[in-house]
Parts: sequence; C-alpha cells; structure tokens
Amino acid sequence: MVVSRPPRRFVLAALSVATLLGGSPSSACAADIAFGEYLAGECVTCHQRSGKTNGIPSIVGWPRESFVAVLNSYRVKERDNVVMQTIAARLKEDEVEALAAYFESLGDQAAAK
Ligand code: HEC
Repeated sequence: MVVSRPPRRFVLAALSVATLLGGSPSSACAADIAFGEYLAGECVTCHQRSGKTNGIPSIVGWPRESFVAVLNSYRVKERDNVVMQTIAARLKEDEVEALAAYFESLGDQAAAK
C-alpha cells in the first residue's frame, strides 16, 4: 500500500506541538519512537529492521493503527501464532503504541534505500 505523507520532520514537529497542547496520547512523538526502538531489541531477533522478509514477515513501515490492530489480534488469539500470542500478551498498551511508532518510522528509511 502506498500512502503519501508530508515530510516526517514536519509531522513530528506538528505532533510535538499537538502533544504539548494536550493532544491525543496516541500521537507519535520522538519519545515514543525512542522507547519503541528500545523495546524492539527483542522483535528484531526475528523480524528484520531492514524490512526484508526472511521467512518471518516484515513489520516495517506499517501504519501505526494497523500495527496496533494486528498485535491486539494476537493478544486476543484471533490470530493463530503461539510465539506472537505470547509476546503480544505481555506488551502494555503504551509499549504497543511505541513499537508501532518505531517500526512505522523505519519504513521511511527502508523505502529510501
Ligand atoms: C521468536 C521470533 C519472533 C519474535 C521475537 C517476534 N516475532 Fe513477530 N512474528 C513472528 C512470526 C513467525 C510471525 C508470523 C506469524 C503468523 O504467521 O501469524 C510474526 C508476525 C508478526 C506480525 C504480523 C506480521 C504480518 O505480516 O502479519 C507483527 C506485527 C509482529 N510479528 C510484531 C512483532 C513485535 C512488535 C515483536 C517484538 C515485541 C515481535 N513481533 C517479536 C516471529 C517473531
């Protein structure tokens, strides 16, 4: 799916302002992405940061809402993969949001290569 977006730096600046003004807690900000990068250490033992598929699907560059929805579907066992069900069940909501923001942000780098 190709989504055209405004330049990320602009988006981040706009979202930071929105956050300062009491914007929605689901807005991605630099802190979310940094937290997501920290949490992603575990994920990238299987999923590739580069967005390549190595038998395990790429999770890079997904829109955040879809990423969150997929992890939730593992958590409630709608999606059938024991490894991902176990991982998703452990993650808190803010951790899922942070991971979504981080892996979405990697999509721009993968696309630029
Ligand atoms: C032990 C290896 C492993 C680890 C660690 C792991 N995953 Fe996965 N992940 C998989 C496999 C295998 C699948 C495909 C499962 C399936 O067929 O439903 C998957 C699927 C996914 C999907 C859905 C991909 C798609 O195309 O449908 C997402 C999103 C995801 N993982 C996110 C994560 C996140 C976030 C983490 C870290 C918190 C993580 N995974 C850690 C192995 C792993």
